[in-house]
Amino acid sequence: MNMRRAEITGWGKYVPEKVLTNDDLSKIVDTTDEWIVARTGIKERRVRSATDTTTTMAVAASHDAMRVAGLTAADIDLIVVANSSPDYLLPAPANFIQHELGATCPALTIAAGCSGWVYALVTGDQFIQTGAYKCILVIGVELISYALDYTDRGTCILFGDGAAAVVIQPSQTDAGVMSFELGSDGGQAYNLWVPGGGTANPLSQKVIDQREHYIRMNGQEVFKFAVRKLTSCLNNITTQAGMSVSDLDLVIPHQANLRIIETAARSLNLPMDKFFVNLHKYGNTSAASIPLALVEAIEEGRLKAGDVTGMVAFGSGLSWAGAVMRMGAKVGAVNAAPVEAAALL
Ligand code: UT7
Repeated sequence: MNMRRAEITGWGKYVPEKVLTNDDLSKIVDTTDEWIVARTGIKERRVRSATDTTTTMAVAASHDAMRVAGLTAADIDLIVVANSSPDYLLPAPANFIQHELGATCPALTIAAGCSGWVYALVTGDQFIQTGAYKCILVIGVELISYALDYTDRGTCILFGDGAAAVVIQPSQTDAGVMSFELGSDGGQAYNLWVPGGGTANPLSQKVIDQREHYIRMNGQEVFKFAVRKLTSCLNNITTQAGMSVSDLDLVIPHQANLRIIETAARSLNLPMDKFFVNLHKYGNTSAASIPLALVEAIEEGRLKAGDVTGMVAFGSGLSWAGAVMRMGAKVGAVNAAPVEAAALL
């Protein structure tokens, strides 16, 4: 079998227009801009406006990605969507997104919290490597504000809404996914979860009154897990790719908390300028976090053809996922200025 790596040939993003600043939050919960910036690095985040849904955000990002790749919906063989904030409990978001894009291909959803998009990328890569599919849309989208308890200052300050998508296709060169690690530690599930609204604790007045339909988090435990996994996963995937962490041109860490990234950077002995950071603008967009950072790294010229990036995500599960990827000829060769999605509809 002629195994080909999957390389990125298109990319796009969408963030809601509405900005929620730290000062805005300080009017809702007992917090301050100083505390949030010092403890997380986050300055503002985007939150949905009335017209934004998980589907519309994913579709807007996907249109940009397909435009950059020079493809239409008819060319897409598979859509993989990483998401844990669906428009409806059934069917899964991938089906709505497929329909709105006008695609006829299979579509599947991966719910792995903030690690979801790297899981989705690795899943897509397998289909490319076997030759089963040639053109895959890998989307990370999260409308997480709907699941936030805006009376809980420990969680509501952290997250934001957003979407990003890439097209992957078989590489003719050595570009593409070079190594990966996927992980799950379900023993820590209750450190980051939504207690109510599922089959174990169905939606009821009691669930709503006790605010169990919102995200609950043990921040300190997740913080420790995140630092450990960011460090060990980056070491593991670079070793597997036959290189060392310092050989990476750019590290794209999950955009959860600047202190997590700084602590990992110190223990990896890497300068902070090796890490791409955009969490000050968007907060933690969960499954959209890594692709949103990847797309902005490409748009800003931080990643060019031939460059190698190490991406590591962590989050609810608790789960983690990392991949090393070399950028193909398309990256850096295209004017990536995004076209208004509306113009394509
Ligand atoms: O994708 C994965 C998603 N999750 C994460 O990445 C979360 C990882 N964890 C974190 O980022 C941090 O644990 C937080 C930012 C959530 C919290 O920071 P921390 O430095 O671990 O604070 P803490 O939980 O130890 O709380 C310290 C103090 C507490 O007050 P007392 O008990 O010392 O009086 C909290 O009540 O800070 C208080 N606090 C706040 N104060 C002002 C917690 N949240 C806030 C807030 N504003 N927003």
